[in-house]
Amino acid sequence: MRKKVTLITGACGEIGHALIDHLAEQKSGPIVTLDLQDMHDAQRKKVAHVKGSITDKALLEQLVSEYEFEQIIHLAALLSTRAEFSPSLAHRVNVEGTLLLLDIAAEQSEFRQKPVQFLFPSSIAAYGMPDLETKAAHPKVKEWEWNYPTTMYGANKLYCERLGIYYSEHFKQLAEEKPVMLDFRSVRFPGLISAFTVPSGGTSDYGPEMLHAAAQGKAYACFVRPDSAIPFMAMPDAIQALIGLAAAPADKLTQRVYNVTAFSLTAEGFRDEVAKHFPKADVTYEPHLKRQGIVDSWPVDTDDHKARKDWGWAPDYDQERCFAEYLVPNIRARYA
Ligand code: SER
Repeated sequence: MRKKVTLITGACGEIGHALIDHLAEQKSGPIVTLDLQDMHDAQRKKVAHVKGSITDKALLEQLVSEYEFEQIIHLAALLSTRAEFSPSLAHRVNVEGTLLLLDIAAEQSEFRQKPVQFLFPSSIAAYGMPDLETKAAHPKVKEWEWNYPTTMYGANKLYCERLGIYYSEHFKQLAEEKPVMLDFRSVRFPGLISAFTVPSGGTSDYGPEMLHAAAQGKAYACFVRPDSAIPFMAMPDAIQALIGLAAAPADKLTQRVYNVTAFSLTAEGFRDEVAKHFPKADVTYEPHLKRQGIVDSWPVDTDDHKARKDWGWAPDYDQERCFAEYLVPNIRARYA
């Protein structure tokens, strides 16, 4: 008998780091992780780690022969800035890698006659506001509005959401018998901020970078204008969102892709929060025109009332609490 596990891909990234700690603490069952990197020392004992790529079909097949995936939490991706430098690699990882995993989940769902749950973090990058006037006029976008991403990463996320829906609802639609299909669930995250890790390759990174620089007494040149506004969320809330959506009874869900948001902030507002706690913070603005363009195309905030209504989503950390109770004390301890 194969061992029943949760598979987490991209497990060494920021979300994975926080998620593994949370799941291990909850003793929620055996976890197999897959990442190009070695597992962090502190987490090595909490998981069975496999070093490798989600695009390696032979490796995935080998894993299937050893394990029964009850749940796949698919975090591996090239983020928005990185993907612009290597668009075809981004497509291979973000889309083709996802497709391989969806195929496995579909096959497993049929084999065990029970849906494999497939959790997928999507992003505000799935939106594309055409200009700043439109962005200001539509400050809280719904899931199906303004789905015109301008980045490779955003296009990849939006398409993979559609693929997930296809595999959950229409897979083998011309076959005589309807198969047991996988159960795809996705949250569209805003920019995430962790007290313990710094992101790499994203375009919302100016927020966390500014904060971590201030905490270390380093100067920071912000790569967007002071008035640039997007939503942000504390990492524990991101984990809470994934876990909350995973735990929701299927009959409560009226859609498969949900916005989740916590607070919207301009870069200047972010700087003000940082300066409140680190009065010596040295932040200047040196907008990078191209990365600025990406941030300008993301909405000021998203409308997450469906997540609130369907599965009781509510963030624990608003702007004030996020800085005062989560980020600042943990970051101070980290760099002390
Ligand atoms: N944080 C991501 C990025 O900047 C957006 O989901 O690419």
